[in-house]
Order: sequence, then C-alpha cells, then structure tokens
Amino acid sequence: MPATVLIGSQWGDEGKGKITDHLSQDADVVVRFQGGNNAGHTIVVGEERFALTLIPSGVLYPRVTPVIGNGCVVDPAVLLREMAELSDRGIDPSRLRLSGNAHLIMPYHRKLDAAMERYLGRQQIGTTKRGIGPAYMDKYSRNGIRAQDLFDPKIFRQKLEAVLKDRNRVLTKVYNQLPMDPEPIAEEYLSYADQLHDHVVDTSLLVWEAIHEGKNVIFEGAQGTLLDVDHGTYPFVTSSNPTAGGACTGTGIGPMLIDRVLGIAKAYISRVGGGPFPTELDNEVGEKMVEIGGEFGTVTGRRRRCGWLDGVALRYAVRVSGISELALTKLDVLSHFETIKVGVAYDSLDQRYVDFPRQQRVLYNCHPVYDELPGWNTDISGVRTFEDLPKEAQAYVEYVEELAGAPVTIVSVGPSRAATLVRT
Ligand code: IMP
Repeated sequence: MPATVLIGSQWGDEGKGKITDHLSQDADVVVRFQGGNNAGHTIVVGEERFALTLIPSGVLYPRVTPVIGNGCVVDPAVLLREMAELSDRGIDPSRLRLSGNAHLIMPYHRKLDAAMERYLGRQQIGTTKRGIGPAYMDKYSRNGIRAQDLFDPKIFRQKLEAVLKDRNRVLTKVYNQLPMDPEPIAEEYLSYADQLHDHVVDTSLLVWEAIHEGKNVIFEGAQGTLLDVDHGTYPFVTSSNPTAGGACTGTGIGPMLIDRVLGIAKAYISRVGGGPFPTELDNEVGEKMVEIGGEFGTVTGRRRRCGWLDGVALRYAVRVSGISELALTKLDVLSHFETIKVGVAYDSLDQRYVDFPRQQRVLYNCHPVYDELPGWNTDISGVRTFEDLPKEAQAYVEYVEELAGAPVTIVSVGPSRAATLVRT
C-alpha cells in the first residue's frame, strides 16, 4: 500500500480514525491534508481511548511520522495541547511535522465563526465553532497567517495588524462585537514559536521523498465527501476538500503518486449540524441508532442525526473520489434491527434520481426509495473473520459493494483494533 488516500464517504464520523489506526501498523508516514480541529478521531487501544482532533491518528505508532499538511488550518494552542496530552500518556509526539504553509486559526476566526452562525439564526450551518470557515476565508482572500510566519515576528505583527484592522471592522460594525487587540494575540502566538520550531518543515518534500523511497504513506482525510466545499451539500459543508483530490493539493504531491483510495462508510449514516439528509430517521429507529452506535460527536459532543445507509450518496462518493475500495464500519450496530433498509434512489419533485442530484432544491425534497434486507439479529462484535459473520451480514456487505460499485475490503464490528475483519 505505498500511497493510500483514506477518506470519509458520508458526512464524516465514519470511523476513519479506527481504520487509519489499523493501516498505520504498516505505515511510515500519516498525513492530514485538510480541515483542522473540527475533526475528531477516536481510537481505542486496549483499555485506552484516544480522542485526537488535529494530530494524525498514526502518531500512536512509534515508527510513523505524523504530518500536518499545507491544506490544514491549525490552531497552535490546540496542537500543543494535544502534543502535551500524548506525551503525558507515554506517546512521543516529537516526530510530528507541520507544513510551514498551513494556515493558522486565529482568535478572531473563532469569534467570527460564532458570530456568523448566530446571525444566520435558523439557517445556521451548525459549525464546530473552531474558526475553520473564517480561517479558510482568510487563506483564500490572501489575508491568512501561516505557520512559517511564527518565526518572523516582524512579518507576523505586520500581517496581524493589517488583517485585524479589517476583521475588527466586521466584528464591530456587522456583528456588534467588541474589537480585538492585536498585541496580546501576537504575544500569545509568538510564544508558541519556540515549541513549534523543530516541527515545521517542507512537508511536501518530506512526503514526496517518502513515496520515492518506497515507504508507506497514508493520507488521512477528515470530515467526509458530503461535507466537501465543492462536492458536498453546499452550503452545509465544511470549508475544505475532504474528497481524494484534496490529498494532492493539501499535501503538495501529484495524483500519479497515489495507488489506492480507500473510502470509509458506516453501515448506516449520520450527520451533525444542519443541512439536507435524505435517509434521516427522525423517529425511534434513528434514536436506536444514536443510542447503540454512541452517535455523539468527538469534538462538540453533539447528538448526530442518523439514518439508513444512503446508496445514492455512497455511489456518488465512489465516483467523485475514484474510491478503489471501501471499509464498512460499525456493522455490529445493525445487529439490533430486525430488517435493514438501504436507500437506492430518491424521489423528488416528480422525478426519480439514481445519481446524487446537483441542485439543492431537489436534494431538499428527496424521499428515499429503499431496498429492505433481512437482519441477522445476533451479536457479531466478537466475530473475527468475514466468513464467520452470519450469512445475512455477509449478504449485506456484498449488497453494499454491488450498490456502491467498489469492493468492501475491511469490515469493522467494534471499536477495538481486533474487531477489524480484513477480506482478502
Ligand atoms: P466547520 O467544519 O466547523 O466549519 O463545520 C461545518 C459543517 O461540517 C458542520 O455541519 C459540522 O457539523 C460539520 N463537521 C465539521 N467537522 C466534522 C467532523 O469531523 N465530523 C462530522 N461533521 C463535521
């Protein structure tokens, strides 16, 4: 698996952390290429549970070099806190490498994120309020401050003063907030420089060299396909590209270097925050998924909305990222349902859609068309090979791969590392 892109094929929370952790056993480099501390990865190692938001999951393996690529937005206080937490639990974070081109999340980004959401009222996106959107806004309007700026205090202050003058106008005049003073921000951020100095390198070169030396590199996506700013359910999306293409731009390597695209899908589906969700179950079935699946966010603790697997959306994810294989997670959660439904098409505005609709209006009016499959009604969390799964569970997996158009090579039946069934 020299270069594997691992991405979420739903609205995030597919269990990417666990699968990255699984692949990391044989990896040399694990790279995050987009997003920031809006992402949550929960990894269970023995009795210990690690909840990471920014540092790639691979950090748990001593031989892995964890990398935060240029496509990420980084809150340095959060990064240093996660490094300290890992250190306290006996995991050495000194191998972490951060792109000097990654943009920094600044305090005014968090303030703007919260203010913008409040002003949207009922239309709000339901962001994680970590400042992600405003940090990417500054990146694309060319007002961003990058990790490399931490090492040039003069430039840092100049950039900060210039951008804050403008952002303060927005904060005070548009959002009725108090203005922010650049000096304490500069002092706080520049105080991080020493601690981050040895971690900031040319990560594009690092990754390129690793691939050329035949090392195993994993590109670890955050969020998921339907939260992609270009291909997701816009505007209810995040501000980056969690689809496979993002791995190239967010790392600085070319697409020909990628060998494999592994899409992660939960055996059902969930989303946090606002926006359309065709197969959502706003009833006791959805409630049961939340309860059994423990569907509460790692980052914000919010209850996730749940529903049956959406085959239309999954096929779409396979297409836009060129997914070559799928990992199906949390199959054990479906053990508790008599029968299992899967969305295979949408009816909307007097038309049937088998391909994911382009127009927001169509998406909002979707009524899913379901196939219904027999459940297996037995606990599968202790099963350790695919062949030992009940035949109905095997049939469900085979049905999903047929529908999605990509083979399911990994099935997860529980949070532990051992509960990962690899199909050969
Ligand atoms: P933001 O990324 O904080 O700007 O939030 C934008 C949308 O993406 C909101 O609906 C969030 O709930 C959602 N989102 C962001 N990160 C994650 C994630 O890691 N998992 C699931 N949803 C996420």
